[in-house]
Amino acid sequence: MNTTTHFNIEPSWQAADGFPVSVRWMVRRDLPAVVGIEQACFEFPWQKEDFLGCMQSRNCIGMVAAREEWVVGFMIYETKKRQVDISSIVVHPRYQRRSVGSQMMRKLIDKLANQKRYRIILQVRESNLPALCFFRLLGFRVRRISKNCHEGGDEDVYEMEYSVAKI
Ligand SMILES: CC(C)(COP(=O)(O)OP(=O)(O)OC[C@H]1O[C@@H](n2cnc3c(N)ncnc32)[C@H](O)[C@@H]1OP(=O)(O)O)[C@@H](O)C(=O)NCCC(=O)NCCS
Repeated sequence: MNTTTHFNIEPSWQAADGFPVSVRWMVRRDLPAVVGIEQACFEFPWQKEDFLGCMQSRNCIGMVAAREEWVVGFMIYETKKRQVDISSIVVHPRYQRRSVGSQMMRKLIDKLANQKRYRIILQVRESNLPALCFFRLLGFRVRRISKNCHEGGDEDVYEMEYSVAKI
């Protein structure tokens, strides 16, 4: 199976109303597609080695959103005793605004309710309006604002939190 994403030659998905994806564990052969999506979205993208290191770390989990063999998005998070910290959630620009990000988050939220982990935490730069809108719509709330100290950045970073319903 070819898991490298060739975004120019996929089947005729453009006209679909919804865009159902399967959300599954990230495996090594997904990495070319994952790195490609990362590069398409960020000025300072993670490299393959960064993802590999993350996959080898005990509490770090990678998920991908795939349709047939095409990987169109991914999510990386770290599990802690009572919460999950999302490091990254990314959808290839070509597939954004088609509910792929929402489907990945829904999968995570559904899973956490059974694990007695009741909070999801993540950080978003203030200039990343699409992500702020996305997380607000999902029910995240800003719980802290701090200065970005990474990559020479000089902008505020919003720490956002989602409370998972206890079951
Ligand atoms: C943030 C991100 C993951 C959202 O994924 P997505 O699949 O495009 O999101 P969805 O289609 O599920 O959007 C759900 C809702 O969020 C809001 N939203 C998403 N993108 C938005 C945008 N660019 N502008 C305004 N609202 C937006 C909308 O309300 C949207 O519903 P609608 O399309 O019916 O109006 C995606 O924009 C992305 O990959 N961005 C680049 C990487 C990034 O910044 N990641 C977050 C930081 S870790």
